[in-house]
Amino acid sequence: MLSRSVLQAAAQASRHPGAARAATLAATAGNVQAQAPCASSTLPVQGRRYISMYGYTQAKALVYSKYGEPKDVLSLHKHSISAPHGSQVNLRLLTAPMNPADVNQIQGVYPSKPPFQTTLGTSEPAAVAGNEGAFEVISTGSNVKNLAKGDWVIMKRTGLGTWRTHAQLDESQLIRIENKDGLSPLQVGTVSVNPVTAYRMIRDYCDWDWMRAGEEWLIQNGANSGVGRAAIQLGREWGIKTLNVIRERKTPEETEALKQELKELGATAVVTEEEMLTGNFRDIVHEITRQGREPIRLALNCVGGKNATALAKTLAPDSHMVTYGAMSKQPVALPSGLLIFKNLSFDGFWVSRWGDKNPELKENTIRDVLQLTRSGRFKDIPVDKVEWKWDAEGPQLAERVQGTLGGYRSGKGVFTFTGGDE
Ligand SMILES: NC(=O)c1ccc[n+]([C@@H]2O[C@H](COP(=O)([O-])OP(=O)(O)OC[C@H]3O[C@@H](n4cnc5c(N)ncnc54)[C@H](OP(=O)(O)O)[C@@H]3O)[C@@H](O)[C@H]2O)c1
Repeated sequence: MLSRSVLQAAAQASRHPGAARAATLAATAGNVQAQAPCASSTLPVQGRRYISMYGYTQAKALVYSKYGEPKDVLSLHKHSISAPHGSQVNLRLLTAPMNPADVNQIQGVYPSKPPFQTTLGTSEPAAVAGNEGAFEVISTGSNVKNLAKGDWVIMKRTGLGTWRTHAQLDESQLIRIENKDGLSPLQVGTVSVNPVTAYRMIRDYCDWDWMRAGEEWLIQNGANSGVGRAAIQLGREWGIKTLNVIRERKTPEETEALKQELKELGATAVVTEEEMLTGNFRDIVHEITRQGREPIRLALNCVGGKNATALAKTLAPDSHMVTYGAMSKQPVALPSGLLIFKNLSFDGFWVSRWGDKNPELKENTIRDVLQLTRSGRFKDIPVDKVEWKWDAEGPQLAERVQGTLGGYRSGKGVFTFTGGDE
């Protein structure tokens, strides 16, 4: 367990107080060689990837060349990848999640927009969808220094396109997973966005008082999301109590089951949005924080609207609320008194921009989370696994992406490539 003084020092060193500003992610689409669409002589054999005698690897990527709903604009593009040269690395997909931002990017409503290019030999300039995932190294160019066949890697930056069976990137674009023993592709493929976001928001936006471990709180909405679950577990590790807001499920039993699930992860308290917005939430907060003696010092907001306002009202003076998502699509409205009399600060956090500015710290953060994972102290998110076989059809895959748009899901959609590699 990291001491709170370390935590505090790191917070000061890497504080990033700016309000969320739209910034263009200077995404590059990687170094995949343009290849003619693959020839019919390279048909897959029983679902296994086929490497032709000329060293070309057959690959498929979910691409889009215009913005819109995933089911309308995503298509599966087949192409070939040459043997890697120099510092190039050829990769095979293990697992890639479908995060809300991936869908927003395809819809064209996300601030970072990967450039549309023809490097994969698409008939129109296109981008590969997906922003994170775990890949296995299948071959390396002669100048590659720190990667070898069989290593697992993740991409250093978002925007490089992860929804593809194979990719060719430069070694400099990849983070090697140092010790993959004890880790699953799912854990590696989902570490770089949500857990990093939770970790940095908790560390960088509050000067936690290490003398008061176990006596300070954070409150968050969207608590059953990937970020929310990470925040609960990191809070538990760091001696920060968590008050978690979820949306009610269809039945009271399902709501209770979800509350229980989050408590088992380490949530101190779980309430529904309805419980927060109606009735005596103030009294509930007063009670669980020992009549306010245990201050709520940080709010994490990914919902917006009334929900965010209610979160802010629970905060102790001089605290921060960090907005990192807008799932309800409602603006954040704040009573002026919270700013004037309570001196609250309202920040925005965007992991893509933060990661681009702090690449080393991002790697360290990932390492920390994976270490917690290895030791069994950071549990997997619930998933809705989408097996991507070599012969999977584009519309089927796109339909599964479309399905991630609705709320109340039991697990995050995650592509798992089972096409194999030899
Ligand atoms: N700023 C950043 O750097 C950053 C990084 C990572 C994630 N995010 C954002 O964080 C949020 C969570 O991402 P994730 O990948 O962790 O999510 P996730 O695991 O896919 O879960 C989605 C979450 O959103 C909630 N939700 C969906 N529709 C909603 C609505 N209309 N109103 C209120 N809540 C709704 C879901 O609640 P139900 O189960 O009740 O539907 C669930 O808690 C997203 O907004 C995402 O864009 C931001």
